[in-house]
Amino acid sequence: MKLSHCITHLTGGGSDGWDVFYRARQMISDGYAVIELTIGEHDIRTDPSILEAMDLSARQGHTGYAMVPGTDLLRDTVAARLQARTGVPTTRNNVLITPGGQSALFAAHVAVCGPGNVGLYLDPYYATYPGTIRASGATARTIQTTAEDAFQPRPEQIEAAANDAVSLLINTPNNPTGAVYSRPTLEGIAKICRERDLWLISDEVYDTQVWDGEHISPRTLPDMKERSLVVGSMSKSHAMTGSRCGWIVGPEEVISHLITLATHTTYGVPGFIQDAASFALNAGTSLEGKISEPFRRRRALAVSILSNQNTVGLVPAQGAMYVMLDIRATGLSGEEFANTLLDTHSIAVMPGESFGAAAAGHIRVAMTIDDERFESALNKICELAKELAQNTVARV
Ligand SMILES: Cc1ncc(COP(=O)(O)O)c(C=O)c1O
Repeated sequence: MKLSHCITHLTGGGSDGWDVFYRARQMISDGYAVIELTIGEHDIRTDPSILEAMDLSARQGHTGYAMVPGTDLLRDTVAARLQARTGVPTTRNNVLITPGGQSALFAAHVAVCGPGNVGLYLDPYYATYPGTIRASGATARTIQTTAEDAFQPRPEQIEAAANDAVSLLINTPNNPTGAVYSRPTLEGIAKICRERDLWLISDEVYDTQVWDGEHISPRTLPDMKERSLVVGSMSKSHAMTGSRCGWIVGPEEVISHLITLATHTTYGVPGFIQDAASFALNAGTSLEGKISEPFRRRRALAVSILSNQNTVGLVPAQGAMYVMLDIRATGLSGEEFANTLLDTHSIAVMPGESFGAAAAGHIRVAMTIDDERFESALNKICELAKELAQNTVARV
């Protein structure tokens, strides 16, 4: 039987740099002790107080169908949170609750892109981006950023690619690079969006994890409220990856269409999950501080370890739960280095190539193990890189 073009062409095909991840998973299930620094899964579980709120809600009977747009409580809570953080007036009518940020990314693209349209995204990118744009039926067009620019996008490059595009997807703080987009970068992006009449889909799921600089939501910039769809999630800020709870914040008209889309796709998010999310968001910054603090510490460790050697470069780690390391001095690709690291030291990291061509020659290290093992893993990475770089020099 024939399958649809949409479903069979979601991924670009070919090697996508995820082989090392699957190999590490296989080694773990075969009983090897692998230090897992691949995906963005916290080493802390959801806080017991959030689980208690979830349990209480479920026991009180919130296990039936919930309101499709989200409960009034959670929509109000998200609206108030965004308004407090950005100053942009926001009400529940600007908010749709979704089963996680990924579902929000998909819905946002379906709202503004379709067959015959072009959706833009920046390389390096979160692994699902091109497929998510394609899932809307649109063509995904990538724009390169460079290590030399610390992976801050150049507005003129976006402009050059913007011709027939309808949307631009950005992510700050950024996975995988750790870049936090500066005000001038965001102002440049906003200008292009206004001039070229682009929707801006702004993925802000790491907005509570900023180590350097400040998180600026582009929705706050002049005339951007009406053309921005902001994606948020409980996954990263509150270690609730498995609860699948996120949101889109945007203009009321778009949200009302998205509610219709949700009615015909997800049919909402479980009420007890939403009650737990409302509890967590209303608990102030202490719960999210507990989640972000270990990453802040480990990021400081990474800065200190990397500053004691000169083979491995640290891409300025301004936010999010990863550090991106430049291993080009070894002469190996990110994929070759990650495979060698797994074979020789049983440490699993993501090759930069799994996040696009712009991250070639890099590896992404998730800061998701205890400080001691994280420090030891980083030291081993630096030692291996030094050895490989010396071999490369000896060969030349
Ligand atoms: C940049 C980015 N956006 C969105 C997501 C999706 O998060 P979730 O669907 O768990 O909310 C992730 C998850 O790793 C991510 O890194």
